[in-house]
Amino acid sequence: MAHNPHQRSLALLTARGFRNPFLTPSGTAALEATALLLDLQPGDEVILPSFTFVSTALPFLRTPAHLRFADLDRETLNISPESVADLLGPKTRALIVMHYGGNPCDMDRLLALQKGGRIALVEDAAHAMGATYRGRPLGAVGDVGILSFDPQKNVSCGEGGALCVNRPEWDGPAGIICALGTNREAFERGEVSEYTWVGPGIKAGLAESAAHVLVNQLEHLDTITRQRRAIWRRYAEGLRALEARGDIRFPKFSEESNGHLFYFLASDPATRNDLLAVLNREGIEAKTHYSPLHLSPVSVARGWQAPLENTEWACRRIIRLPLHNAMTEAEQARIIESVERFFGAR
Ligand SMILES: Cc1ncc(COP(=O)(O)O)c(C=O)c1O
Repeated sequence: MAHNPHQRSLALLTARGFRNPFLTPSGTAALEATALLLDLQPGDEVILPSFTFVSTALPFLRTPAHLRFADLDRETLNISPESVADLLGPKTRALIVMHYGGNPCDMDRLLALQKGGRIALVEDAAHAMGATYRGRPLGAVGDVGILSFDPQKNVSCGEGGALCVNRPEWDGPAGIICALGTNREAFERGEVSEYTWVGPGIKAGLAESAAHVLVNQLEHLDTITRQRRAIWRRYAEGLRALEARGDIRFPKFSEESNGHLFYFLASDPATRNDLLAVLNREGIEAKTHYSPLHLSPVSVARGWQAPLENTEWACRRIIRLPLHNAMTEAEQARIIESVERFFGAR
């Protein structure tokens, strides 16, 4: 058993089924490494969701690739395989999917769109530590997966992330990218007598203090995931009557999710905004979520904007309720009561 916290974190990730993980200072840094790994050329296209955090797209601004935003599936708010299929073409080099709220994307259908591996499948699994798809950890299903351990995530070490490489032929290039573009890995294996700068890269790695925290969190991953799922279920059970009445709409939830976020959709934007205002006035930190990337000034300026009906529909209706590992049943009961009162169910 390795004693150094970096090696122990890597060993714990590997034991979970991540084939070749590299620790990074953040999930964003892991996505920056991914953008370099894909070695995109002028004319290449990358398909990705619009309903995601800016970090999913940001690293690609520094590449010559054209971004094509796909619409979402209204049942899960994950990327829609139909929308991806519509955007696929001879220039498509990569497909990035994001497992929203730790609920797995429809990976069977997305993997089938990879055209025998010509298109790289990248999983932004920032929300998804502890979640699986058909028993495999999210982030270990596509060619590359990225994880985030920032303060909002189920597993957090302050700031941190991981790049998980699942395609063996990318092990070497990823090792160079994560070593500031040097062949340090080859040097450490004794294959070269000194190491030198050989290509693009990032400053990867994780602070020692953060790695210590990460080891502890990873050792308790099953407990963390059980607690998160239990909190998720308490919300779902508490609000089920409102769903049955048609006041709110729940997402389709997979048993393999990690319960990272609890959200529902209001019937219309005005109701969502009124509910949000009432909850916030009562001191409940309910929130909306991502502003669609395809409507952002960056996308509009670059001509990456195309209407995405389902994304725009969901963004105007979504409401997230507070959810964190240490949440008590009493806190949750108060929030559920407030939502019920708003809909006149109390
Ligand atoms: C979907 C998604 N991708 C990427 C990231 C970036 O992760 P980090 O904050 O560790 O840089 C986040 C962080 O919130 C995220 O939610």
